[in-house]
Amino acid sequence: MNMEKVRDHFEQDASDYDHDILKFIPYYREQNQAMMDLIPFEGNARIRALDLGTGTGVLADFILRRYPMAEVAVLDLAENMLAAARERLGTFAERVTFQRGDFSKDEFGFGYDLILSGLSIHHLEDQAKKDLYRRIYQALNPGGLFLNRDMVLGATDRLNAVYEHLWLEYVRSMGEDPAACLERSRAEDIPACVEDQLEWLRGAGFVDVGCHWQRMNYAIFGGYKFSTENRHDERKNIV
Ligand SMILES: C[S@@+](CC[C@H](N)C(=O)[O-])C[C@H]1O[C@@H](n2cnc3c(N)ncnc32)[C@H](O)[C@@H]1O
Repeated sequence: MNMEKVRDHFEQDASDYDHDILKFIPYYREQNQAMMDLIPFEGNARIRALDLGTGTGVLADFILRRYPMAEVAVLDLAENMLAAARERLGTFAERVTFQRGDFSKDEFGFGYDLILSGLSIHHLEDQAKKDLYRRIYQALNPGGLFLNRDMVLGATDRLNAVYEHLWLEYVRSMGEDPAACLERSRAEDIPACVEDQLEWLRGAGFVDVGCHWQRMNYAIFGGYKFSTENRHDERKNIV
């Protein structure tokens, strides 16, 4: 994928992103909530988190509010998206670091307890997704969690046709032009099916890999970095 094309698109869309995303992504708010529900740390945990492809900082915002001791690093290709994230996260400035970069090739640090990504990794070719999952694994602390909320393919051509039809009906119902949406998606999106991505995560070393939420061609999936320590006492919702 030509990352300049993706970056230019998000540079242009930054000012209206938070409003417009609801017209293009079905169940967007439900997805945000599902992501947060899956994060197992106690409220007073001193976690270090990373938000890859943060956009306007929506997921980072949830983390900073819920975890007053957390430090969050956010990374994005598009300067205008980062500017919107800076504005949104301004009240947490001392706990946030901002990085402009491309997560498929730029360093994004180590020592994270939590790495999130939202609607971003599907812009990478499949080999680049696999490489990124390995780098994310390396960047996590033992016991750390990776969650990806992303556009995905169905497991078969028939399912893809069903999901595409439902998505186009959704964007039409939101007043958008389905043909234009489809053309843009075909030019910029390279989704992979959930089953393949779960295998790539296992191949990278992740354990307790799973798809936790899926509706049509959107899914939330991820895994934990293997740990020999019992860190369960630091967490809730884990048996
Ligand atoms: C659809 S927005 C998602 C924003 C936010 N994460 C959310 O869940 O609403 C995708 C964002 O990912 C960024 N992005 C896409 N590919 C990227 C890459 N390779 N490196 C860094 N950021 C990237 C875009 O610039 C854009 O801001």
